[in-house]
Amino acid sequence: MARMVPLIAGLLLVAGAQAAPARPAHYRQAPDPLPAALADAPGQIVAGNCAGCHSLDYITTQPRGKGAQFWRDEVTKMVNVYKAPLAPADADTVAGILDHKFGGAG
Ligand code: HEC
Repeated sequence: MARMVPLIAGLLLVAGAQAAPARPAHYRQAPDPLPAALADAPGQIVAGNCAGCHSLDYITTQPRGKGAQFWRDEVTKMVNVYKAPLAPADADTVAGILDHKFGGAG
């Protein structure tokens, strides 16, 4: 019987560990810096509408020269597929700014 004690104690430890679930981790994240390419007034319109879910680097690192249709489709996808909360007029404005900034070869 005495040999059972460590076994029982071990089982209790395991049960105890299971009863206490891992606590959620809380941490503060530094705010995403505004990329230089979006630092001007039109860029800040983009940042204000597009920074909610992911880094603005997703936008500024896209290849250049893809043209207006690419950016219109990209904004449409964000709204329709991922539910980015842009009114249609704002989506048009943002797509226009993105084409102006990144749509050409520059
Ligand atoms: C509601 C959340 C949400 C918002 C707001 C949002 N996006 Fe996205 N975006 C995503 C998700 C999710 C992905 C990742 C898709 C993947 O990995 O396939 C993504 C990816 C991207 C990409 C990478 C290429 C691609 O299509 O996957 C670009 C460019 C982009 N978003 C642009 C924008 C622009 C421009 C805006 C503002 C109009 C915007 N996003 C706002 C959710 C969002």
